[in-house]
Amino acid sequence: MSRHFMTIEQQSDEDLATIYQLACSPFDDETLKGQGVALVFERPSLRTRASSSSAVHELGGFATFFSDEEIGLDTRESAEDVGRTLAQMYAIGALRVRNHGVFDRMRVATSDRISLINLLSDVAHPTQAVADVLTIAEYFSEGDVTKLAGLEVAYVGDATNVTRSLAVALLRLGVNVTVGAPDGYQLARSGEEDPSVVVGGGVLRLSDSAGDAVKDADVVYTDAWVSMGLEGETARRRAELAPFRIDETLMGLAKPDAVLLHCLPAHRGDEITNEVLDGERSLVWRQVFHRRSAMLGVLRWIKEEDND
Ligand code: CP
Ligand code: NVA
Repeated sequence: MSRHFMTIEQQSDEDLATIYQLACSPFDDETLKGQGVALVFERPSLRTRASSSSAVHELGGFATFFSDEEIGLDTRESAEDVGRTLAQMYAIGALRVRNHGVFDRMRVATSDRISLINLLSDVAHPTQAVADVLTIAEYFSEGDVTKLAGLEVAYVGDATNVTRSLAVALLRLGVNVTVGAPDGYQLARSGEEDPSVVVGGGVLRLSDSAGDAVKDADVVYTDAWVSMGLEGETARRRAELAPFRIDETLMGLAKPDAVLLHCLPAHRGDEITNEVLDGERSLVWRQVFHRRSAMLGVLRWIKEEDND
């Protein structure tokens, strides 16, 4: 039975601890020796494609890229048949998909013969969350993810796939997370989509005020106002999310030494100003660096199963 990495919620605390450890520890280049990783992207990417390709190469494997047009998930052929085909030739399928449900359909269709990694779906971006945790731990606790409890992280703007994975990962480590978003853009407050239902440790607060959310925060985080696939809502989103832009005034409400994170790509002038993104408190390029660390951790954890 192959290991999968589809959401933070589905990973045990032990698995996540192993991934964080493997992300930053020395490795040889034999882990993926002679094995292939299919990189399937239904949506555009820079960081995720670059970090996945690099990590696969560094671990001795080979990556094949498939674009949306080539693969035609559920248009050229069914997601199940794509999964069955990839499972004949690749050890791992790493996918950026429009619909998260594709992962379970492929898992069932292949009887777990191929490991699946979520490189962003409509509901989750778990490899980004691993990179975010590594970046925060590097800055605040010399890389020790077990020493982050009590930290205050404020997420401001549209509560996205990134927000949900980030919140769950941090809450699991005892970090307190406040999400500041207007009505209609907030994390769900109940049901399976509510991160507070599935995690313990940290406290999750939901606020409709950017100022309240950021007040006394150690870390301020934002993401695009218009996620991929929502381009038709651009004008409405810009208008409704404008009070949630991260600028110097908003950052001034956080702790004096607070740092700034953004998963990128940034939309300068929308969710964040140049001054903040390019400012001294911005850790965004270190965050990008850790996308590669995160992929190394996830790939190494997946291949650990072969040694169990
Ligand atoms: N943060 C992130 O996933 O970036 P890309 O969309 O460029 O991969
Ligand atoms: N929420 C964004 C993240 C991009 C990395 C999107 O889904 O487009």
